[in-house]
Amino acid sequence: MKARDTRYVCLRIAGEGGEGVISAGELLTRVAARRGNHVQTFKTFPSEVRGGMAVFQIRTGPEQVISQGDYLDVLVAFNREGYDRNIADLETDGVLVFDFEPTEEAPVRRRRGVDYHVPMGELAKEAGARFGKNMVALGAVARLFGFPLEGLREGIRRKFGKKSEAVVTANLRALDLGARYVEEHLEIRHEVRFPEGDGNPRIVLSGNEAIAFGAVTAGCRFYAGYPITPATGVMEWLARVLPLLDGDMVQAEDEIAAICMCLGASFAGKKVMTATSGPGLALMSEALGLAAMAEVGVVVVDVQRAGPSTGMPTKAEQGDLNLAIFGAHSTAPRVVLAPIDIEDAFRQTVNAFNIATKYQIPVILLSEQSLGYCQASMPRPDFGKIDVFEEEYATVPEDGGDWPRVDEITVGEGYPMTPIFPRYIRYDSGVSPRSLPGMPGLEYRATGLEHDEYARPRYDPENRRAMTAKRKAKYESIRREYGGAVEVIGYPDAEVAVSAWGTTASVMRHAVLRKLNEGARIKAIFPKILSPMPDAAMERHLSGVRKVVVCEMNDTGQYAKIVRHRYHKEVQAVLKDRGLPFKPSEIVPQIDAALEEVVRI
Ligand code: COA
Repeated sequence: MKARDTRYVCLRIAGEGGEGVISAGELLTRVAARRGNHVQTFKTFPSEVRGGMAVFQIRTGPEQVISQGDYLDVLVAFNREGYDRNIADLETDGVLVFDFEPTEEAPVRRRRGVDYHVPMGELAKEAGARFGKNMVALGAVARLFGFPLEGLREGIRRKFGKKSEAVVTANLRALDLGARYVEEHLEIRHEVRFPEGDGNPRIVLSGNEAIAFGAVTAGCRFYAGYPITPATGVMEWLARVLPLLDGDMVQAEDEIAAICMCLGASFAGKKVMTATSGPGLALMSEALGLAAMAEVGVVVVDVQRAGPSTGMPTKAEQGDLNLAIFGAHSTAPRVVLAPIDIEDAFRQTVNAFNIATKYQIPVILLSEQSLGYCQASMPRPDFGKIDVFEEEYATVPEDGGDWPRVDEITVGEGYPMTPIFPRYIRYDSGVSPRSLPGMPGLEYRATGLEHDEYARPRYDPENRRAMTAKRKAKYESIRREYGGAVEVIGYPDAEVAVSAWGTTASVMRHAVLRKLNEGARIKAIFPKILSPMPDAAMERHLSGVRKVVVCEMNDTGQYAKIVRHRYHKEVQAVLKDRGLPFKPSEIVPQIDAALEEVVRI
């Protein structure tokens, strides 16, 4: 059964790439948030610059929007294709606003609901706005659903002011013509209204922007990257902001150069980040090995897209988990995190920097197309409450005293203990204090070669074993620190659990809350770190569970396999590999089926 919360409105605009669907949606989003509404958006478009289907969806309401929900309250179709391909998602009693001529062979066929024809293209021509169809649509939407025109006018001035005054004027005219058309020609027959908002403007960020914002909050002052859809937004934001903070943004010649520049800057003491997508992460894997070996912290963001190769670059997938966790040559520890929504993207990025800095290790932040391009309101961060880890560098022993003693295992025949800085000294945590280039008395060489505690290249078996263990020890330290990093919702003694990662966890949350409201005895388990897995907490929460439903957006069940093999549980993998995210209504029946099966056992 569909559960519908009428305090929220979900509106989708669908049209051809180049018709301004995205601009219209973004404008609507900003104005809704300025009125004090919570918003969350979803957009998808083809990889061509013109043509194909562009879709922008906004869900808005009085409280935090945790997913896009299942059905649309309003569909605005700029053309016949927009109608044909999206009408199935409109509530049966939802509102359709369209601009095409229904014919006898292809009528607009709806048994219930309200349909309004608005000649958007014609009115745009009348307004003298060449690309103004989208603004006519916004004018009509504003009048139909109780949205203030003034906010939209202000938005038009801001958005198109850069183009020319004539463009602004024509678009303002288009907006007014759309509104006037509704007043003069349409009889309002629906009840859907945009929520008023509480008057407290909310900040709206895309997932890419939230990551960039999290990075500078954590102290990132160097970014190098190579543009790639859908990750480029991270770079665009940092290109504007980093220079204002005395930081640097470099557009490198490719992904290999980008990560190597980051490693150099990190070696020199900067907090660094690069962002890419699956193919770029594949190219970076050699340098990730160097980062692990030289023990240099770096944050690598992978905004996953549907692959492999160029695949479907503007479509969603969670297909890079295996690459992120296991795609290393030899034993090269790295940490993998995956934010589930916009606010989490901000927090997890800060977290990624803290781990990379504290443990001198690469951290891969797995974002997704549907998060990178999604925009949502989030509470203003309380900067006083955000923990940012700052590194303490090694110091020269006072009064000419001795360096801490290295372990003799790593000093074989012909390799004397020396009075030089033991950069890679083996402490239990796996972390050794480091220095920066130019610190007198603390010089060392960092290379990709195996080395001893003094950073001298060494190839003997004892040293090799000891140094591999040292680097791996960081992994155990991180596991200890983040051993409890699991979010759990629902009944502690439930026999059916659900689990997911990334944005699917956010959609699953929506489905689980719905089922809990209906009285289902279930629980949801979401790990906040994917490598190393928080085993202690996962095992605790999974004990007593007889069946785990795992949903993820890939064809191979990458996370499902981890849960199955690591925790020896019966896992029902629900996989979606169509370039589109899950809806709660696709998850609910899976939970029902698992519940039924467990009861039957
Ligand atoms: N008046 C004047 N200009 C307007 C307008 C209006 N009323 N409405 C929109 N525009 C402009 C926009 O400002 C934008 O111009 P800009 O690029 O100079 O900013 C342009 O028209 C496109 O409008 P927009 O709303 O941003 O997009 P759209 O809904 O028409 O869809 C895309 C176009 C996004 C699908 C397409 O351009 C695109 O970028 N495709 C993806 C390409 C890609 O990433 N490929 C992957 C390569 S690996």
